[in-house]
Amino acid sequence: MDMTTTYTLNNGYQIPVVGFGTIIPDGPATVTAVKDAIKSGYRLIDTAEIYGNEVSVGQGIREAMAENHLKREDILVSTKAWHSHRGYEQTLQAFNESLAKLGLDYVDIYLIHWPANAKWHEDWRQLNADTWRALEELYRAGKIKAIGVSNFLAHHLEALIADSDIKPMINQLEYHPGFAQTAAAEYAQSQDIQVEAWSPFGGPDSHVLQDETVNAIAAKHGKQPSQVVLRWLIQKQIVPLTKSTSPDHMRDNLTDFDFNLTPAEMKAIDEAPYSGGFQFDPDTARS
Ligand SMILES: NC(=O)c1ccc[n+]([C@@H]2O[C@H](COP(=O)([O-])OP(=O)(O)OC[C@H]3O[C@@H](n4cnc5c(N)ncnc54)[C@H](OP(=O)(O)O)[C@@H]3O)[C@@H](O)[C@H]2O)c1
Repeated sequence: MDMTTTYTLNNGYQIPVVGFGTIIPDGPATVTAVKDAIKSGYRLIDTAEIYGNEVSVGQGIREAMAENHLKREDILVSTKAWHSHRGYEQTLQAFNESLAKLGLDYVDIYLIHWPANAKWHEDWRQLNADTWRALEELYRAGKIKAIGVSNFLAHHLEALIADSDIKPMINQLEYHPGFAQTAAAEYAQSQDIQVEAWSPFGGPDSHVLQDETVNAIAAKHGKQPSQVVLRWLIQKQIVPLTKSTSPDHMRDNLTDFDFNLTPAEMKAIDEAPYSGGFQFDPDTARS
């Protein structure tokens, strides 16, 4: 396995085993980070309308394509519909706005960013189904290569699968040592839905990289703590989406494929106590 290895989604579309996250301030910082990431070898770029930087992400992608002689189909672009655009019509509109901001003809992956949940929406199930119908239509029209969700727990996914024609291809979850959403991830995997991990290092303060268990295992293997976290995700066949503005970190996060964690090490990381990260609960998070 290396950075060119792909997973095949349940619709046959292939995505890289690692991706690049773009929660980075809009403007030159995002443009430069996206260009550096593509130059380093990342081919899956994850953004969202709520990050407010789709214009800069699009610019970074176009400039990187020109400078590295890449074609549009060499790069996978992923974006997401925010809460304010739930429902069929609103989601179609949100998608078209994202496409225009990115300056693209299609996106590779489009996700519902968070499920409507029962705490904030009496009609949560219908709302998710209506939003999903827009994704299905855009997918059938060829505007999106793969459709999916983010932050969906098992019962959100189960309801959506029952209420719709096309099964999601991806579920993007907060997933890192100290907050492994094992039940949600395993349910998705049992449905042949590819899991992606957001905030694999616990977010901007990268707290998870100080975790004692992770550091002890890293020392044993002569690896960086970041590489142990990424290897733990890869062994679970979960796609890590790391964010970095440092070209050195970007490279480190692409070169951790050549060692194995033992079952005991995997279990120890699974059971690591909370050591940083958002720990948002999709059942109660304001949505
Ligand atoms: N679907 C959702 O609801 C959702 C929510 C949050 C995030 N996401 C996605 O997931 C992506 C990643 O999550 P995130 O941005 O919260 O953070 P993250 O990837 O968990 O961590 C980023 C932090 O780790 C540091 N870092 C990266 N590589 C490192 C390395 N090798 N060694 C040491 N430090 C390193 C970065 O600093 P430097 O910049 O200095 O390297 C940055 O401060 C986002 O950018 C976004 O695309 C999705």
